[in-house]
Amino acid sequence: MRINDPKLLGPLAELGIELRPAAKLSELTSLGIGGTTDLLRITKHETIPELLQLLDANHIAHKFLGGGSNLLVDDGELPWVVLQLVPPEPDVVLEGNLAHVDAAADLGRTVTFCAKHDLGGMEGLIGVPGTVGGALRMNAGAYGMQIGTYVREVKLYRAATRKIETFRGHQISFEYRHTSFATDDMMLAVILELPSKPYNEILKGIRICNEKRRSSQPLGQKSAGCIFKNPPGASAGRMIDELGLKGLSFGDARVSDRHANFFVNTSHASAKDMLALIADVRERVQEAYGVMLENEVVVWNG
Ligand code: EPU
Repeated sequence: MRINDPKLLGPLAELGIELRPAAKLSELTSLGIGGTTDLLRITKHETIPELLQLLDANHIAHKFLGGGSNLLVDDGELPWVVLQLVPPEPDVVLEGNLAHVDAAADLGRTVTFCAKHDLGGMEGLIGVPGTVGGALRMNAGAYGMQIGTYVREVKLYRAATRKIETFRGHQISFEYRHTSFATDDMMLAVILELPSKPYNEILKGIRICNEKRRSSQPLGQKSAGCIFKNPPGASAGRMIDELGLKGLSFGDARVSDRHANFFVNTSHASAKDMLALIADVRERVQEAYGVMLENEVVVWNG
């Protein structure tokens, strides 16, 4: 979708929004898949309510992009614009055991920065690509920990009230790869309360997690991490592997040879290829195990 009406361009510039016309989502997502649309980059959180009012009044649909690391975007010209936060400088500020983090901050760098200041707890998240906001909305987790455990407060734009609001940690429910945030809420900032731990000890934990990840996941390839959530008490990766589906391909979309719940883009996969692969694997697992796998990856195809 293109924004070229001067009636809109003027107010956008006044709000300090940077417009990047015809951005390729394939360049903004770790899967390397996705069509084209205008990208609106937001520097000041306070401008968001007005920005969304402007878009709504002009019947322009929108989606919020975090780090693009858990996302499968449709091909072609997309029927909505994409909003993305620009991280401020600095994007993490420490105050005792509290880390004030902008949602646009890189998750891995945040974990490392806190570790260097003897704040631990998030070692498992070190190799998870994406932003802190994205991790928060999904309650990202790995190796026995999840980010929700450490959330003291979240600042977000709530689509339901059209306002920026602050939620305390206990007002939010954090479940396995799921939170009580609405899909159209936009994470803006978070205060994490992290346990004190000596840097050396945190580093040991980080190294162990990194090693486990390197040995079991296709890190150098274009992927969106795990495609399906694990069903209760089972492993989607193991089920897909047991069915002999590693290497199954539709075009350039392929079930990873290393971890069967990672689907990789080996070259120029389209969303159509990837969606066909997801549907086929889901059907085969359903037939063999009677379990309907639920997407972990977020799909933007409408
Ligand atoms: N397994 C296989 N074959 C495979 C993959 C896995 O047999 O191709 C077996 C493993 O040997 C192991 C079991 O399945 O016995 C579980 O595998 P793994 O330890 O890799 O964990 P997972 O359940 O597949 C989850 C998360 C990952 C996270 C790891 C480590 C989900 C959907 N996945 O994977 O998160 O990194 O644990 O904690 O919850 C993600 O969220 O995108 C993600 C990759």
